[in-house]
Amino acid sequence: MVTMAGSLIDLRAWLLHEHVGTVCADRLDAITEQLRLVVDDQIDGAVVELGCYRGAMALWTRSVLDALGDAGRAIHVYDSFQGLPEPGPADSDHLRQGELVATPADVVATHAEWGRPSPTIHAGWFSDTLPNQLPEAIAFGYLDGDFHDSTLIGLVHCVPRLSPGGLLVVDDYADTTVNPKAWDGLPGVKLACDEYFGHPSPMEVLVGDEDLAFGRYRRPT
Ligand SMILES: C[S@@+](CC[C@H](N)C(=O)[O-])C[C@H]1O[C@@H](n2cnc3c(N)ncnc32)[C@H](O)[C@@H]1O
Repeated sequence: MVTMAGSLIDLRAWLLHEHVGTVCADRLDAITEQLRLVVDDQIDGAVVELGCYRGAMALWTRSVLDALGDAGRAIHVYDSFQGLPEPGPADSDHLRQGELVATPADVVATHAEWGRPSPTIHAGWFSDTLPNQLPEAIAFGYLDGDFHDSTLIGLVHCVPRLSPGGLLVVDDYADTTVNPKAWDGLPGVKLACDEYFGHPSPMEVLVGDEDLAFGRYRRPT
């Protein structure tokens, strides 16, 4: 794990207590490592999060970037704020339509609690917001839409905007042939990545201490 400033240690503990449904130590640590790459390699562009819910990971992302001296980097977050859409045939029944409802005010409040500026919030279904509300250049994207169609549309719109060396991390991407510990409850996510990238897939598996299911795509430089 990267060395963390004192305020990040406190925030990490708070997130693991208050937002345990959507963040875990593995996720926080993996996102930290990927953001460090983006900053160290001076990758051009904004950070986007597709599926921000109450803003927990967005707050972590802002705080890590600030700690890395990258306070000027813009963060854009996207969510229906109506909860999940209807799952499709490729999805499991682990989550249902309408689960995970939050509000833009929740995202603002999560950031205000830690004195951080809110990200730019784009409310609406990805099919309505992504075509014309994404930044032109993306340095880092966190795709956390849980379902096949939500993941696929994120890839369709984000991959072409990735800067050279830019990174996408896809949550719930479980390739148990590479990481048998990965949680495999949302199989539509990996299916969407396979559909988008084809075979052999350029997705890399990120392994954590527990059941992390993270896939990463890095645009070649
Ligand atoms: C697991 S939650 C995100 C958690 C958040 N990334 C975090 O770490 O704090 C998934 C979110 O994706 C949103 N979502 C899923 N599919 C969507 C779609 N097609 N359009 C807009 N929002 C969507 C849901 O509303 C939900 O808030």
